[in-house]
Amino acid sequence: MTAPGEPAPARTAAPRDARPAGSRVLFTGEQIRAAVERLAHEIRAAYGGEELTLVIVLHGGLVFAADLMRRLDMPLRVGVVLASSYRGTATRPGDLDIHVPPSLDLAGRHVLLLDDILDTGRTLARLTDEIRARGSRSVRIVTLLDKPGRRAVPLQADFTGFTIPDVFVVGYGLDWNERCRNLPEIVALGGPEA
Ligand code: XMP
Repeated sequence: MTAPGEPAPARTAAPRDARPAGSRVLFTGEQIRAAVERLAHEIRAAYGGEELTLVIVLHGGLVFAADLMRRLDMPLRVGVVLASSYRGTATRPGDLDIHVPPSLDLAGRHVLLLDDILDTGRTLARLTDEIRARGSRSVRIVTLLDKPGRRAVPLQADFTGFTIPDVFVVGYGLDWNERCRNLPEIVALGGPEA
């Protein structure tokens, strides 16, 4: 505690999780807000007031889900699943860990699976199979981003925010080694223009 009149001690600046050096903004927070609003409108129209179970793929879908669900003015249940794919050199690319909690009640439900990005499609294809196997009434997919050029399995999202080329992107929930998820915009780490 500083005594009255005494100068405040210098604070060590905490490192800011700022935009990575050399990155460029693909979509600003304002553009993302507009896309989320449009998606909410499309989803509300598609379900016509029927109850929806939004299943969020963690961790990437976290920020997108928080914004989207507050615009879904309709009966809504929310659940989460975990998915991680390994891209490092230590593990084979494409190795996939998924966890659908046994307590997630999906039988007879209209499920909307939400993720940050549809890339090769492996994660959402596996999750879709798993959710169907749990007796869901329907399964649809919403992703904020879509990289169709990287698709390895035939899968399309029912609702898509933006289509992008094959560039690695971070921000708004998307990470680079668990960093940058907190950026309010989406930035590209090199590659061609979107
Ligand atoms: P797929 O469709 O390949 O996607 O099964 C698996 C997961 O990979 C992540 N992903 C990315 N993460 N920038 C990221 O930060 C990217 O450009 C990117 N592409 C894919 C994402 O978490 C997705 O759910």
